[in-house]
Amino acid sequence: MKVTILQGSARKKGNTARVLTWVEEELISLGHEVDSIYLHSKNLKGCLGCAKCKEKPDTIGCVQKDDVPEVLEKMIDSQLIIFSSPLYFWGFSAQIKAVIDRTYSLYTNYNLPDHASLIDGRRQALIATGAGPYDDNAEGMVAAFGRMQKYHKAINAGELFIDSCSTPDAMGDSVQQKAIEFARKIVA
Ligand SMILES: Cc1cc2nc3c(=O)[nH]c(=O)nc-3n(C[C@H](O)[C@H](O)[C@H](O)COP(=O)(O)O)c2cc1C
Repeated sequence: MKVTILQGSARKKGNTARVLTWVEEELISLGHEVDSIYLHSKNLKGCLGCAKCKEKPDTIGCVQKDDVPEVLEKMIDSQLIIFSSPLYFWGFSAQIKAVIDRTYSLYTNYNLPDHASLIDGRRQALIATGAGPYDDNAEGMVAAFGRMQKYHKAINAGELFIDSCSTPDAMGDSVQQKAIEFARKIVA
C-alpha cells in the first residue's frame, strides 16, 4: 500500500525520527511504498477558519497559499497516513498541528447524511515520543488523534506512544521491537 509519513519533529535525528526509521524500514521490507515528508522544511500556515473549503466537497479548496495543499494531496493519494510528533506541552508539535488543522478542508457536511471526505476509508496511525510517562501526559494527544477519524471518515490503524525518551541512542531493542510490531499492525 502507499504510505505517507508526516514527520512532525524538527529534529531530523531525534527520538521520533529514530522510531520512524524502524517503522519505515519494516514497511518497506513488507513491500509497501513509503513517502516521508519532513514538515519542518515546508511552508506551513495555520487554518484561517474561513470555511471557504466547505463550499465544494470534491476539492481541497483551501485559500491559504503555502505547501499544505501538496501535503494534503499526498494524504489523499495514500492508503495509510502516519502522523508523527514529539509530545510538546501535552499536545502536537506546531508543524504537525498546522497540517492537522488544515485537514478541515478535506471533509464537508460533518454530521449530515451527505458527510463527505476526500480521505474516506484511509488508515491513519499516530507515532509520538515524549520525555515523560503516558499517564497524565500523553493521553490528550492520543484522544485528539482518535477523534479525528470520525471527521475524516478514516480508519484508526493504531497509536504508538514511546514514553521516557532521552536520546535516540538510549532507545533500546525493546523500543525497536515495538516499532516493528506497530508497523506490521497498521498495515494488517
Ligand atoms: C517545547 C517542548 C515541550 C515538551 N513537552 C513535553 C511534554 O508535555 N511531555 C513530555 O513527555 N515531553 C515533553 N517534551 C519532551 C519531548 O517530547 C521529547 O524529548 C521527545 O522525544 C522529543 O522528540 P524529538 O527528538 O523527535 O524532537 C517537550 C520538549 C520540548 C522541546
